[in-house]
Amino acid sequence: MSTQRFGAGIWHFATYVDRYATDGYGEPRSVIEAIDLAGKVRDLSVVDINYPFFGGDFTNEEIKAALDRNKLGVIGVTPEIYTREFRKGAFTNPDPGIRRRAHKLISEACDVVRFFKADYVKLWPGQDGWDYPFQVDHGALWKHSLDGVGQLASENPDLKFVIEYKPREPRVHMSFDSLSRTLLGIEKIGLPNVGILLDFGHALFGGESAADSAQMAIDYGRLFGMDVNDNFRSWDDDLVAGSLHPIELFEFFYVLRKNKWAGVWQLDQFPFREDSVETANHAIDFLKAAARGLDALDIDALKEAQARHDAIGALKIAQKALFGAF
Ligand SMILES: [Fe+2]
Repeated sequence: MSTQRFGAGIWHFATYVDRYATDGYGEPRSVIEAIDLAGKVRDLSVVDINYPFFGGDFTNEEIKAALDRNKLGVIGVTPEIYTREFRKGAFTNPDPGIRRRAHKLISEACDVVRFFKADYVKLWPGQDGWDYPFQVDHGALWKHSLDGVGQLASENPDLKFVIEYKPREPRVHMSFDSLSRTLLGIEKIGLPNVGILLDFGHALFGGESAADSAQMAIDYGRLFGMDVNDNFRSWDDDLVAGSLHPIELFEFFYVLRKNKWAGVWQLDQFPFREDSVETANHAIDFLKAAARGLDALDIDALKEAQARHDAIGALKIAQKALFGAF
């Protein structure tokens, strides 16, 4: 298990603005500065990078130089299809010109993925959705969502696209809001290069069991990526992984291991007030302990307990393995 690779969204190392601290929670950082901070994290192999690159006018080569000096690779590129221009949607914007802008921006991100030999283009259509009853034609909105993703996937058959679903925020209802709805959409698109990026916290926020969601995505051959964090379940708090729901996170990892899912374990955390390097290190230490816990898990006894749906028996085995690993 020592080969497990860890990653993080580069935004983990940025500073943030919200609707209260409109002056930001820290001095703005460029993507280069964020990469240099990511390089200080123990055992970080890859990052997911936003496109356009934030904090300056940087070339791919400049980004690559910063990554190289920090021994980091790129797992994915996240085009920013959720900023002001796209406030009424990217794929589902009522203005066809803005929909074309979204398509163009994502197509540029495709070239960035090719440049860095990254695994995927990450689609987080955060503004695609609605807020009020009667605001949208639901059928038309869903069709635009699928047409937008489908067009990109068919134009770029050499690349993988992952959709990261989330129940809400910034839209009150998001078009890709859950595992089941996203999977249904992907199956309707019907192309092999569209999959899901399962964010553990978004599954919690949506009332899902992340373990069950992972199993379903794997069964349909659509689990292309994942990231972890934690929250109190009523909001996408993006707190440090392992802080609140360790046993559910452990079951999520168990399902990945059981299915021989071999991807990177990524962090999607927002340390608004914490030191970003220390927060990432703390999360990775937890993930490593969870990996040791998987090694220690009495799989035969667990399977036997599960065959009887023996809740307490199974929990005892899982808790012993996880908490014994610390
Ligand atoms: Fe999130």
